Amino acid sequence: MRIGLSFPIFLQFAVTRFASAAIGKSFSSNDPILQYSIKHSVQLEQVQKELIELTSRKFGNVMMGAPEVVQLNQNLIRAIKAKNILDVGLFTGYSALGAALAVPSDGTVVGMDVYSEYFDQVGDVVITDVNLRRKIKTFFQPAEITMNQLIENGTAGQWDFCFIDADKKNYITYFEQCLSLLRSGGIITIDNVLWSGRIVQPKDEMDESTRAIDDLNKLVANDTRVFVSLLPIADGLTIALKK
Ligand SMILES: C[S@@+](CC[C@H](N)C(=O)[O-])C[C@H]1O[C@@H](n2cnc3c(N)ncnc32)[C@H](O)[C@@H]1O
Ligand SMILES: *[C@@H]1O[C@H](CO)[C@@H](O)[C@H](O)[C@H]1NC(C)=O
Ligand SMILES: *[C@@H]1O[C@H](CO)[C@@H](O)[C@H](O)[C@H]1NC(C)=O
Repeated sequence: MRIGLSFPIFLQFAVTRFASAAIGKSFSSNDPILQYSIKHSVQLEQVQKELIELTSRKFGNVMMGAPEVVQLNQNLIRAIKAKNILDVGLFTGYSALGAALAVPSDGTVVGMDVYSEYFDQVGDVVITDVNLRRKIKTFFQPAEITMNQLIENGTAGQWDFCFIDADKKNYITYFEQCLSLLRSGGIITIDNVLWSGRIVQPKDEMDESTRAIDDLNKLVANDTRVFVSLLPIADGLTIALKK
């Protein structure tokens, strides 16, 4: 009986210590419950399949947004009738494409990245529909600079939706800038907030990125400017609704 009692405690320890086993993108996990969820919800358009395929072939799929996350973004965009979208961390364009598919024909997606090569070689190649491609405006410089320019250009409070998925050390900066740019009722989603489970490491064992994500999570949890949910989906996704 004693063993029966201690076994679940050991398991609990194992799950905490190796929390990465409990979360993961559908790309890289064969967990049957996760695969069931994906099979019964994720629906990809042909252009999205092509973008995933070409990205995986050229650069691998480690950096690409998970389909279940990008589709959740799309559904949030539709739910709040978002038109103007900020995509912080464009990479090959998967999350930007999802947003462009979800906004109306006069919608805009501002894609930000320091490197143009990823998008030039993938997004720009597979997104051949001119009406779709025209919605995506790209800025290849640090996202912090682009968002400062958007603020200087007088567009604060005019954006509907922001997806944060770039360098982790600047997450708090991006969160603050997105919050300034968003209208009341706008939504920010933030990817990788569980960071393959490393987020539960003791603070003194964390590297710079893990620490930055943990700092952001603690800030957001106590932030009275937003209503928040942190979902253990894919690599962890925070949804913050601006009051
Ligand atoms: C995880 S990927 C983005 C994935 C993309 N959202 C998707 O759905 O496939 C992160 C991207 O952030 C970019 N990045 C890194 N530092 C940046 C910075 N300071 N400003 C803008 N983008 C940056 C990287 O070049 C990389 O392409
Ligand atoms: C800010 O406005 C200028 C002038 O209209 C424009 O050239 C620039 O692209 C804008 N910047 C951003 C990030 O939209
Ligand atoms: C929120 O703030 C309180 C008071 O500063 C702090 O004790 C608490 O740990 C914070 N919550 C989180 C999740 O960081």
